[in-house]
Amino acid sequence: MEKKFKRTTVTAALPYANGPVHIGHMAGVYVPADTYVRYLRLKKQPVIFIGGSDEHGVPITIRARKEGCKPQDIVDRYHKIIKDSFKEFGISFDIYSRTTSSTHHEVATQFFEDLYKSNKFVEKTSEQYYDPEAKQFLADRYITGTCPHCGNENAYGDQCEKCGTSLSPMELINPKSAISGAQPIMCETTHWYLPLNDYEEWLRKWILEEHKEWRPNVYGQCKSWLDMHLQPRAVTRDLDWGIPVPVKGAEGKVLYVWFDAPIGYISNTKELLPDSWETWWKDPETRLVHFIGKDNIVFHCIVFPAMLKAQGSFILPDNVPANEFLNLEGDKISTSRNWAVWLNEYLVDFPGKQDVLRYVLTANAPETKDNDFTWKDFQARNNNELVAIFGNFVNRAMVLTSKYFGSKVPAVSEMLQIDNDIVAEFVDVKSKVENYLDNFRFRDAQKEAMNLARIGNKYLADTEPWKVAKTDMARVQTILNLSLQLVANLAIAFEPFLPFTCEKLRKMLNMPEFDWNSLGSISLLESGHEMNQHELLFEKIEDDVIEAQVQKLLATKKANEEANYRAKEIREVVDFSDFEKLDIRVGTVLECNKVPKADKLLQFLIEDGLDKRTIVSGIAKHYKPEDLVGKQVCFIANLAPRKLKGIESQGMILSAENVDGSLSIIMPEKSVKPGSEVK
Ligand code: 2FM
Ligand code: ZN
Repeated sequence: MEKKFKRTTVTAALPYANGPVHIGHMAGVYVPADTYVRYLRLKKQPVIFIGGSDEHGVPITIRARKEGCKPQDIVDRYHKIIKDSFKEFGISFDIYSRTTSSTHHEVATQFFEDLYKSNKFVEKTSEQYYDPEAKQFLADRYITGTCPHCGNENAYGDQCEKCGTSLSPMELINPKSAISGAQPIMCETTHWYLPLNDYEEWLRKWILEEHKEWRPNVYGQCKSWLDMHLQPRAVTRDLDWGIPVPVKGAEGKVLYVWFDAPIGYISNTKELLPDSWETWWKDPETRLVHFIGKDNIVFHCIVFPAMLKAQGSFILPDNVPANEFLNLEGDKISTSRNWAVWLNEYLVDFPGKQDVLRYVLTANAPETKDNDFTWKDFQARNNNELVAIFGNFVNRAMVLTSKYFGSKVPAVSEMLQIDNDIVAEFVDVKSKVENYLDNFRFRDAQKEAMNLARIGNKYLADTEPWKVAKTDMARVQTILNLSLQLVANLAIAFEPFLPFTCEKLRKMLNMPEFDWNSLGSISLLESGHEMNQHELLFEKIEDDVIEAQVQKLLATKKANEEANYRAKEIREVVDFSDFEKLDIRVGTVLECNKVPKADKLLQFLIEDGLDKRTIVSGIAKHYKPEDLVGKQVCFIANLAPRKLKGIESQGMILSAENVDGSLSIIMPEKSVKPGSEVK
């Protein structure tokens, strides 16, 4: 039986405060979370929306070390940038706090103590890498060495970034401390573990039997974790950045970042509502929903629920609508490779267009599989949907009303069949959108809301009020009244998705406030109601603007390729006599043409000093044939002839391959006689 809830606690994953947020974060977590919360608020359902920065963990200490500053400086910087970006994009958190806050330190410490005192942890001593020079234990990321799989000499203790393999520090060949460069030694250390294996049976029942409604990607990931069986997980670390472990003798140890971060949801609620926070976390009539990306599933569906269960007084998540990943122009978004669209940069390049990004990220949300963001798609959705459908309908309805009725809502005179038909079409948009939103299907919900504008455009095209105005103003009154009712419906239906646009629209319509429950009504605006000045809601985005963004990404790609370029290993030594066997000459290009049906090949006619010869070369992607005529090239003159696409090639033209794979023909620096030897 469906459980009835009185209120909803919505959390959105706490982003690490070691970099700004990008479109992947927004599409995966914050846009859907905000849309959902706005929807509940509009329905007047009690809800709180909890966010904050995740400010502990090893990557932050590494960044601080690199920049020669304190971890606190790093998190102060990025907490502000992230918080500001969320505000700019209308992510309407009730609180956006941080895990370095004193409330969080107190709440997380208390949580650990509760479990510690009720013997929920297992204490274990094991050997771990220790830096004898820096006198500290080394987190996996602080150990580098040679990857046993691909030979990369700069692999990390948790992963080789070259071949992508997950590693454990023990697997590294020649491990070194990234702090001092010293060879680490094994030393004993004690930590506290949450015995997840003890919760396995309970988790199986709770998730696999009682939450079959969770998204297939979430349910499937949980099932495969559970099928592989759970192991005890350490909840403490040897590190000097984090929340100190509140146990005597545990100096120099802190809570593991993934232990303290989810408790941040609770602490931030306590900071927001010091007197009533427990209602939002302990009352069984409260529903808890976590919005996260797929890389966080295990922590939110298995580890955190086990922590909450162990503590005993908290509710468990009712749903965890995790998204898959958003890629960018076909490549995985990556902070370290700067392959991302950063929110703070988007705001500079597209001021006032927050809703356009929100719209595109929802339209393309990676709800069931990884999706790709491309600038072309961004432009198309803006121009063909927001401008041509939404904006166009609103503008036509407002302009015509202003022209014929001085911006006053005209009264309905008589409803014809066509009017009744469109009313019938749009009244059930409400239940459709609601049904999708209740099931966290944001893409479908937004698409359905957009149908209101589609219906409106079709209605205006079918009824042609601008023509009817010549003969029958009473008819125009009805058409425009209904069109304006549709516009008002659009303003409500889109509020969860496009809050800035809808606020503008609400002001234009001079509507007092939005009420989700009146969605579908054809009497949202009374006749005679005076509207305000109208303005355009969206504008076309031109090709050059999009091209500039594409170029920006290409420049990043090029910079990455150059930064990662390592020349190929030199091949084995050859004798001089072997080298001498090659007859390399300079020739002049007499003719150069594309080879039909071969997009890579060019056919050259070369003056070689003795005769003319034909050479076929695979460089058509890099040169225009006409640009090469008259140029001098170097070629191997005594290579055995071979046939390419039916043409006998008598030699090989030499070229250099650049990091990006482009080819550059080798040409003598000064003009020389054709047939000159290359030595
Ligand atoms: O993956 C991340 O970005 C983590 N900082 C998410 C933490 S979510 C929660 F547990 F706080
Ligand atoms: Zn490797």
